[in-house]
Amino acid sequence: METSRRTVIAAAAAGLTAATVGTAHAAGGKKPVRELFGRLADGTKVHRWSLENGGTRLGVLSYGGIVQSLEIPDRHGRYRNVSLGFGDLDSYVASSPYFGALIGRYGNRIGKGQFTLDGKSHQLSVNDGVNSLHGGAKGFDKRVWDVEGFTSGSDVGLVLHHTSIDGEMGYPGTLRAKVTYTLTRHGDWRIDYAATTDRATVVNLTSHVYWNLAGEGSGSIYDHELEIAASRYTPVDSGLIPTGELAKVAGTPFDFRRTKTVGRDIRVAHQQLLYGKGIDHNWVLDKGITARPEHIATLRDPSSGRTLSIATTEPGLQFYSGNFLDGTLVGTGGHVYRQGDALCLETQHFPDSPNHPSFPSTVLRPGQTYRTSTVHSFGT
Ligand code: GLA
Repeated sequence: METSRRTVIAAAAAGLTAATVGTAHAAGGKKPVRELFGRLADGTKVHRWSLENGGTRLGVLSYGGIVQSLEIPDRHGRYRNVSLGFGDLDSYVASSPYFGALIGRYGNRIGKGQFTLDGKSHQLSVNDGVNSLHGGAKGFDKRVWDVEGFTSGSDVGLVLHHTSIDGEMGYPGTLRAKVTYTLTRHGDWRIDYAATTDRATVVNLTSHVYWNLAGEGSGSIYDHELEIAASRYTPVDSGLIPTGELAKVAGTPFDFRRTKTVGRDIRVAHQQLLYGKGIDHNWVLDKGITARPEHIATLRDPSSGRTLSIATTEPGLQFYSGNFLDGTLVGTGGHVYRQGDALCLETQHFPDSPNHPSFPSTVLRPGQTYRTSTVHSFGT
């Protein structure tokens, strides 16, 4: 049975694990601290913010809202950074596969980068073969966000703002995006996304953390155990665009309704796994869209005991098994990242929704506010 962070805090407060857990678990966070991380080619400063609360330590860059490190303890209180990334800004700018980044305006792919809204067709920036991926060539992951730190009651956090101008990357409307990262006194990392527009548009924001609960650079995640509360997924074509079908996971490698290891079925000769070079699919969450975040997935590393539990208001989850990590990037701790060294669990609306009227809508109109929330809870 999973030990929640609350239990760990209680144990630490009682001095039971003081030697290894120390004071890091004391409830109530300190004000986030800002330091210079680097400069872009044009001289723009990029800052790194450090936050700590309830036993979780988070490092966030103003560039891309990137989670540059996320440290949590194992069952013995030993901290590791469980999120893939780089130690320097130049590496992020040069060739990051969205490590830790905020994704916008549209998480995942839009087929041929085209969609029609209110009778008007739009051509987006195409950056993944013929398709548009993660907002196009210069998405939210490559923008410098305005960031402010806050403390509120027992929470600490950051508010990140970015305004995307009308027509940017082909998207209609000026989109004002506000993302709040909160670390709670229990060490949960909560993301609240909000956006408004001055013209009808589409929007689908998410976070692209690459998880390895044994620690970044420690090897493959195929032994991680995963459970996803979804009976269906969206099969894709060879370009990873959904066909429109909501297929049953029963009897396929995509069935994670009961906990199994990530690697158990990853080499099954299933056409969908060939298209994705592994798992790179959207799960249709059984709970659907909810007003409040509801539990949808649990990830566990048996070696360290670390667990990640995800709750969201969103109807979909993109589970990507790090298939394109190919041994060409050296990560934060100095190790080479190879295929399957991490996985992403991106809460979202479904890929290519603007071209699938039967999928939950991603349209945002003037006067409406886009709001979604996702909570990551950690334990051992
Ligand atoms: C998403 C996509 C993948 C891949 C990664 C980034 O998860 O679905 O196909 O592009 O981002 O490498």
